[in-house]
Amino acid sequence: MKLIKSKDYAEMCQKAARIFAAQVTLKPASVLGLATGSTPVGMYQELVKKYDEGKVDFSAVRTVNLDEYVGLSGDNDQSYRYFMNHNLFDHINIDKANTHVPSGLAADLEAECADYEAVVASMGGVDIQLLGIGNNGHIGFNEPCDCFPVTTHPVDLTESTITANARFFATMDEVPKKAITMGIGTIMKAKKIVLMANGKGKAQIIYDTIFGPVTPQVPASVLQLHPDVLVFVDEEAYSVIAEKCTPEQLATIL
Ligand code: GLP
Repeated sequence: MKLIKSKDYAEMCQKAARIFAAQVTLKPASVLGLATGSTPVGMYQELVKKYDEGKVDFSAVRTVNLDEYVGLSGDNDQSYRYFMNHNLFDHINIDKANTHVPSGLAADLEAECADYEAVVASMGGVDIQLLGIGNNGHIGFNEPCDCFPVTTHPVDLTESTITANARFFATMDEVPKKAITMGIGTIMKAKKIVLMANGKGKAQIIYDTIFGPVTPQVPASVLQLHPDVLVFVDEEAYSVIAEKCTPEQLATIL
């Protein structure tokens, strides 16, 4: 894993956006694995800016998103499909037919998961996968558990994730309790992975992800086993690493 420090969120987003822009420039028909949450919003804004400046062409790009809430339609403003349209797809020259988010309304969730896994495989896999990280170390919606789920699957969200998401909904009853997510195996098959984290609240989990044991109790820790992971952090998300790591440990990631 390689760590890229930035002084603040804005700089972190600029640096991460350069990696995605370079990917699309070098391979116009890239398959981008995309993520939701507040963390990547600034990175998407940077990509839109590069598109507006004529620096990136998304016309041949295909995308697959990590996850979606069960029970929300794509036009619900809390769905991840809506998030992607609103934050990125509506502002660039991507063909929406080439963008994929699992359907949260599928009658048969298991079949939807199998179909989604097949979609990812039919594209030849993901060239570069963007990840945020939950406070408990989840990636996509792979929550802490006893084993790493391999493929796309339905998941019961943990209390901590439901509580963290509650801020976006008017009442607790409306907060989704289930989601569909790519599995850890699906994520690990990506050729390259970009993990982004900012703010003090992510500092401990970023330390655990990089320096803790590889355990399904910290799902992101599995990334230690991937050969090509870039971790983008701001000063605050770096703070526990700065405090706890020896110079020898730092030398392995900087
Ligand atoms: C949700 C998403 C994750 C995301 C996480 C962190 O749980 N499913 O993909 O990484 O939120 O969100 P934030 O970036 O808002 O901290």
